Amino acid sequence: MCGIIGYTGPDSCVEILVDGLRRLEYRGYDSAGVAIQAGGGIAIRKSQGKISRLMERIAKEPVSGTCGVGHTRWATHGRPSDENAHPHLAGHVAVIHNGIVENHRTLKEKMIAKGRTFCSETDTEVIAHLLDEHVSAGMPLEEAVRKTVAELRGSYAFLAVTDREPGTLVGARLNCPLVVGLGEGEFFLASDLTAFLSHTRDVLFLEDGEMVIATPAGVRITDFGGKPREHASQRIDWSSSMAEKGGYRHFMLKEIHEQPRAIIDTLAGRMRPESGEVFFETLPLPVEQLFSMKKVTLIACGTSWHAALVGKFMIEGLARIPVEVDLGSEYRYRDPMVEEGTLCVVLSQSGETADTLAGMREAKAKGATTVSICNVVASTIARESDGVIYTHAGPEIGVASTKAFTTQLVALYLMAIHLARERGILTPREVSLHLIDLSELPRKIEEFLKREPEVAAIARKYKDARDFLYLGRGISYPIALEGALKLKEISYIHAEGYPAGEMKHGPIALIDERMPVLVLCAKGESYEKTFSNLEEARARGARLIAVGTEGDDILKGKSEDMIFLPSCGRYTRPILEVVPLQLLAYHMAVLKGTDIDQPRNLAKSVTVE
Ligand code: M6R
Repeated sequence: MCGIIGYTGPDSCVEILVDGLRRLEYRGYDSAGVAIQAGGGIAIRKSQGKISRLMERIAKEPVSGTCGVGHTRWATHGRPSDENAHPHLAGHVAVIHNGIVENHRTLKEKMIAKGRTFCSETDTEVIAHLLDEHVSAGMPLEEAVRKTVAELRGSYAFLAVTDREPGTLVGARLNCPLVVGLGEGEFFLASDLTAFLSHTRDVLFLEDGEMVIATPAGVRITDFGGKPREHASQRIDWSSSMAEKGGYRHFMLKEIHEQPRAIIDTLAGRMRPESGEVFFETLPLPVEQLFSMKKVTLIACGTSWHAALVGKFMIEGLARIPVEVDLGSEYRYRDPMVEEGTLCVVLSQSGETADTLAGMREAKAKGATTVSICNVVASTIARESDGVIYTHAGPEIGVASTKAFTTQLVALYLMAIHLARERGILTPREVSLHLIDLSELPRKIEEFLKREPEVAAIARKYKDARDFLYLGRGISYPIALEGALKLKEISYIHAEGYPAGEMKHGPIALIDERMPVLVLCAKGESYEKTFSNLEEARARGARLIAVGTEGDDILKGKSEDMIFLPSCGRYTRPILEVVPLQLLAYHMAVLKGTDIDQPRNLAKSVTVE
């Protein structure tokens, strides 16, 4: 989704803004622009396309100043074009915005009736006109923002600058993230802290309904009514180099290879295999409540939803609590029944996904206790939930989620063990066995990653396939969904994930000698059944790629290609199984020449409904 950065301080800001935009590129965008307070006015440079095109524009028409804003746009209202790119200038005010102004049509009609002319098809431009109406009448920008937000409906994080107040940046937030970076005599406002991490790691997170006023002398936060708000600053321990490629060709590949480390970090300090103990410093449930819990509801979107589907097997299997899983975008609109004793666990890498956030708010409003599993520290979902379990995956920049997914599975597994132990279902000895399995996982993934060339060779064989079928059963079914999603997202090859046992009820009609079918068939509780489904596909001429357990030569003999995984426990198996599927999608995409880290039409953090 759109990326936002603003700067005020002593330095020339064009380079700072463009660098910030580069660091936000991973969110996905179709155009970019900057607005700089310069020469008593506001200079705008913007263009459709990549940031390199914006830089060409700036090189042709240089601009300099020490206060300004920058934006990467992900189109919602109006196609990608130079005109629709942000910033939008109206009279004395320039604005950049993330979110959707739902009542923009009504507001636009009103402004047109007052004689104002609009230059874009965007909803954002109404904000600029509303602000300018007040600023042109002599109102300070801060006051103008306050008046304007009272007229807006929808979701937004926006920043505004005016030529009337050099050095002043004003931002407002409602349902879209906005973060303040605190430097020495310089301040940054951004949608995402990666935009300014190379300058400062001290941050303030704005809440919904808050505004920030920044000048080189300092920052002030108020609510929309003008009442001052105090926030303690937080020091973020992510370094900016963690968000760089570190010698890998793509962020996605780097992040796949970071999984062993990310899992170690997610486990760190949370388990003691010798004594069979799990610790969650931030789980807000007293032991009595854990005993009486009647139901767990898992809410998420996309890849995080796949993690939730695996989580259902873990929590039901270990803690024996009924679990329902829902998509954020569905849950909030189905008038869900939230019984007393419901724990709602919300999964989100970014912690900003609008549908997931709305689902969590709905559950909370209906009385559920909420716990989030998030990767981004102090993100909105993390802050609004009653408790948070952070996955310590580090910044995930590639749009296709990889290490965030595997660490979500690790967090869910730990949580399931914890619930089972506290409810007296698992003995300390049984807990120890699960924890030993978990602690061996990073090494097993590390070992498997050395076999990446084998997966790359399989990718070369199948790169021209037009469709792919991924089959799995039980706890591996969500992994089939995830493998198919990865392939679709970054290689644009059509792929379906399906429960292997359901194939005969329909999709089997698709199978012929051109259809690659990847079957997740590691040794475990569904092995024989899945093997039979593989035979069914084979009998119809499918090109079979099996993912199975090391040494399973019978399976190898039945498949055209085989990927061997080390043997492991039931609940670490899906975490291992997804790694070859991530690599397969990655190498197919490399061969297709697609934009792997920023696939077309996709955004890293989906902050609109
Ligand atoms: O940040 P979240 O985990 O809430 O994001 C949810 C989805 O948008 C995300 O997982 C999406 O499906 C990824 N592109 C998958 O690779």
